[in-house]
Amino acid sequence: MIIAVDGPLAAGKGTIAKALARHYGLPHMDTGKLYRSVAYRLLALGKSPDDIVSATQIAHGLSLDGIEDHNLRTAQVGAAASVVAVHPSVRQALYDLQRGFALQPGGAVLDGRDIGTVVCPEADVKLFVSASSEERAGRRLQELLAQGEAISYADMLAQTLERDARDSGRVDAPLRPAEDAHLLDTTGLSIEAAVDKARLIVDHIRLAKS
Ligand code: DC
Repeated sequence: MIIAVDGPLAAGKGTIAKALARHYGLPHMDTGKLYRSVAYRLLALGKSPDDIVSATQIAHGLSLDGIEDHNLRTAQVGAAASVVAVHPSVRQALYDLQRGFALQPGGAVLDGRDIGTVVCPEADVKLFVSASSEERAGRRLQELLAQGEAISYADMLAQTLERDARDSGRVDAPLRPAEDAHLLDTTGLSIEAAVDKARLIVDHIRLAKS
């Protein structure tokens, strides 16, 4: 079974994808990490996220076991990842890693922006997870403050809206729900309630297919 979980920044897709993977005994890939890793390496080399040639080279050199575990979830790397992700050559370079992971025997859970539309259009279950911009900015703010990053709520909301606009407005693989995606709005929901809702959707689809 392949489960695709897409959605904007801090909608809860990562948490839901991890919980589904645990529940159904499937491997999980956070595809945002690939884009963040390219951005992180680019910044570490002192290069701009707009440097398509360098970003593409780095993306081609990325391997799943070489991805950093630390330093990827800062506001700076997240914003740069969104810029890097606009380049079609970078997306193409990262496609095979994601596709190969999705097609492993038994299936997988992948979360990102274009899993249900581009990486795995044949996924058995597609979830599109959303939440209000204000709530998403608030969640992300808590995450960054806990990491020791100093940022105001107003700046976080502005960054969230900017990131949404870039991720949804790009020409190649923009963030949007697949036509057959199930929409899951997590505004006002606890993590447990959101995961329960996601599981109900997956179980319902599995039952209908069996
Ligand atoms: O999910 P995230 O915040 O870690 O993703 C960081 C950026 O990577 C996001 O703003 C856009 C890009 N991304 C993408 O374009 N496609 C994906 N499948 C995953 C992430």
